[in-house]
Amino acid sequence: MMEQCRQLLLAWYDENARELPWRGIHDPYRTWVSETMLQQTRVETVRGYYDRFLARFPSLAELASAPQDDVLKLWEGLGYYSRARNLHKGAQQVMNEFGGVLPRDVSELQRISGIGPYTAGAIASIAYDQPVPAVDGNVIRVTARLAGVRENVGVPSVRRKLEELAASLVPKTRPGDFNQALMDLGATVCVPGTPSCDCCPLQAVCDAYDAGDADELPILPRKNPPRQIAYDVMLIFSGQHVLMRQRTEKMLQGLWVFPMLEDYHTVRQMPSAVRRLTKLTVTNVRAEGEAKHVFTHQVWLMRLYAMDAAEAEAPAGWRFVTLEELDKLAVPTAVSAAARTVRRILTTKAESLPE
Ligand code: ADE
Repeated sequence: MMEQCRQLLLAWYDENARELPWRGIHDPYRTWVSETMLQQTRVETVRGYYDRFLARFPSLAELASAPQDDVLKLWEGLGYYSRARNLHKGAQQVMNEFGGVLPRDVSELQRISGIGPYTAGAIASIAYDQPVPAVDGNVIRVTARLAGVRENVGVPSVRRKLEELAASLVPKTRPGDFNQALMDLGATVCVPGTPSCDCCPLQAVCDAYDAGDADELPILPRKNPPRQIAYDVMLIFSGQHVLMRQRTEKMLQGLWVFPMLEDYHTVRQMPSAVRRLTKLTVTNVRAEGEAKHVFTHQVWLMRLYAMDAAEAEAPAGWRFVTLEELDKLAVPTAVSAAARTVRRILTTKAESLPE
């Protein structure tokens, strides 16, 4: 039964494997980069980012010696930026503590920043051909259906059971292909909601197919709805410059944003609120529309305001940047609508400037 399952899945993979830029190579650094990008992110989104990232950082040593700002810029738009910061930090750790070579052992791998059980398993199996599992959300779903696990997969003992099943399934030969076959099956056939059991290679050995409840599995832990936060985003101009700051908070750390104030304010309240936040005196406040961004745990409901600063000097912790400089900074998708508004306003200003 286990052996049949392996053979069916590998035969399916030989016919249906997606052609992806990180496949068919045995380079642990490249596997680390691709698997880090693929966490929480769709394959089609990752393709372009992966190619650009490796063109700029072709080796672990080059990544380790790069400034963090460069790493974040290449991650711009991918989200979950702690992945990029940890990958960068991990690369430095590998240079300093592991002689520049990613270790083969899964427990050694997990000592490195940014490498958890999933990534360790993916690197060990895909790049080093070791028969260890790599359990992500796809694999949880596929194995829960396959084995007919009808308990909440958020419960540690249930999750452990699925991890053990995944581990026992991994073959001694082609472990990396097998793990990636499970992921591909989960992404293309054994999808969340209503899976395409009609074209599944594992139909004959699947408990959930047999029982007719594949669409109800896995049973996921209840998620809290994301917190909705109202923000005013202030686009503060001084000539051809706009005011920005590099975030130091855990969330979006290292990314560049405009001044933001929680809660909505009236246009009349704006100058004193801006003064409290930035020490700047502003005039000519005008509304520039709204924007919304959905994160995993938060929804930002933003109102955009443009205004003019009386002074040209940025207060401590802030920077007045030109459009050209703005384009080189890593800006999170959450404020890309605001950045577009800035671009429009500064471009219009430049056009009306005397030659
Ligand atoms: N998702 C995460 N890692 C993957 C991989 N190597 N192939 C396909 N999908 C994935």
